[in-house]
Amino acid sequence: MRTIRQSQKLRGVRYDVRGPILVEAQRLEAEGHRILKLNIGNTAPFGFDAPEAIQTAVTQSLPEAQGYSDSRGIYEARTAVAQYYQSRGLRDTMVDDVFIGNGVSELISMVLQAFVDDGNEILVPAPDYPLWTGAVTLTGGTPVHYVCDESNGWMPDLEDIESKITENTHALVIINPNNPTGAVYSKEMVEALVDIARRHDLVVLADEIYEKILYDDAVHHHAATAAGSDVLCLTFSGLSKAYRVCGYRAGWVMISGPKETATEFLEGLTLLANMRMCANVPAQHAIQTALGGYQSIDELIVPGGRFHEQTMLADKLLNEIPGVSSVRPRGALYCFPRLDPEVYRIDDDQQFVIDLLRSKKILVTHGTGFNWTAPDHFRLVTLPDVEVLEEAIGRIGEFLATRR
Ligand SMILES: Cc1ncc(COP(=O)(O)O)c(C=O)c1O
Repeated sequence: MRTIRQSQKLRGVRYDVRGPILVEAQRLEAEGHRILKLNIGNTAPFGFDAPEAIQTAVTQSLPEAQGYSDSRGIYEARTAVAQYYQSRGLRDTMVDDVFIGNGVSELISMVLQAFVDDGNEILVPAPDYPLWTGAVTLTGGTPVHYVCDESNGWMPDLEDIESKITENTHALVIINPNNPTGAVYSKEMVEALVDIARRHDLVVLADEIYEKILYDDAVHHHAATAAGSDVLCLTFSGLSKAYRVCGYRAGWVMISGPKETATEFLEGLTLLANMRMCANVPAQHAIQTALGGYQSIDELIVPGGRFHEQTMLADKLLNEIPGVSSVRPRGALYCFPRLDPEVYRIDDDQQFVIDLLRSKKILVTHGTGFNWTAPDHFRLVTLPDVEVLEEAIGRIGEFLATRR
């Protein structure tokens, strides 16, 4: 019998957030162990219910949501997204500038497929949300990682970006607020990043899915605002995180800047949208209600709110473990602590995470899974309530004590 192999295209594509370690966790679960999964930003298992109005918008739509929709998305959803950006100062955003997808994930792949050719280089942050690196690789492009500087609050290193630009560089990915670091970029930083794109004629791909999950005095600045009318900017966002409906799969991409220079690319994007018919239609009906209604996310991110309390507590407890330092997250739902190599000798951080899983039944993700080169970080999701987090980080501390 012929051995069926995976395609060559998949060589080098990794997505470790749900990779081999999850398989080991599933094996342990099958043996009867209870595993605390702090590896993915999935809100539902941690008791976050979607706002009722959003659920109702979906259930009410079911009778009329049986057919395919316009492949770019239903008109009401695209209008709501366009109006959202208008209200954020991007007044020229029009309904035709918006494509709705099955989450940001699908749109990242579609957009990259529509304009990346073999050998094109795409600047991606390190650490990154690894879908970006994987999706660039899958399209035949080359992800080129630029460093975010931990000693500077995980801000992108602008000189490093400049030094990595070649004649093949096509686009600059900005993830703000950042997963996994929780960094939120200042207006000046966003402007400086976009200015690099402007000077080198790069497309800006701005992943802003955590734009509403901000702590304390953090403020989110859209890359599209800095990009203005002369830099092509694709802004990705959606309902998964701020509206706690990642399972619905509702996201969008908004195109701004000199669209007249991108007609052919946009035709390609439309072709890809047509080829996959449309995004899940019932979920599209949630978008207008979500964006227009009461923003219950605001209660979760202020002091006393669950996202705020949990993230700050996780940051504090991690920093209390000897040899562990974590830059306080300013947004998103993660901590990305560093294990001082002088204190912990880790050669293979994936093995380290597997050992932690087997010993303490806690699943986190190793730092190299986020394209961070040194095996000295891991990412922890801050979604469990404070008691569970205390217990989990306590167990991580116990495990680390055996490794010092
Ligand atoms: C930075 C970032 N972008 C995109 C996504 C994917 O979002 P969606 O659920 O809309 O596909 C995630 C999910 O964790 C993320 O962290």
